[in-house]
Amino acid sequence: MENIELCHCKKVTYADVERVMHEATDLASVTAAFDEVQAVTHCSTGCGGCHDKIMDVISDILHY
Ligand code: FES
Repeated sequence: MENIELCHCKKVTYADVERVMHEATDLASVTAAFDEVQAVTHCSTGCGGCHDKIMDVISDILHY
């Protein structure tokens, strides 16, 4: 699971998202967490096709 590549354009894996979230300062909402993850990893700045998938993963991690 950790090595699953969520964003193919920017080569961002599940583990990358998880790592940023552990260091993130604003996890008040899925949107805020997404912004932090995107700022660090640049995920979803290519084709944008991974956006919903990454939002789902962030939501899962937040509510785990
Ligand atoms: S797969 Fe993430 S921006 Fe294209």
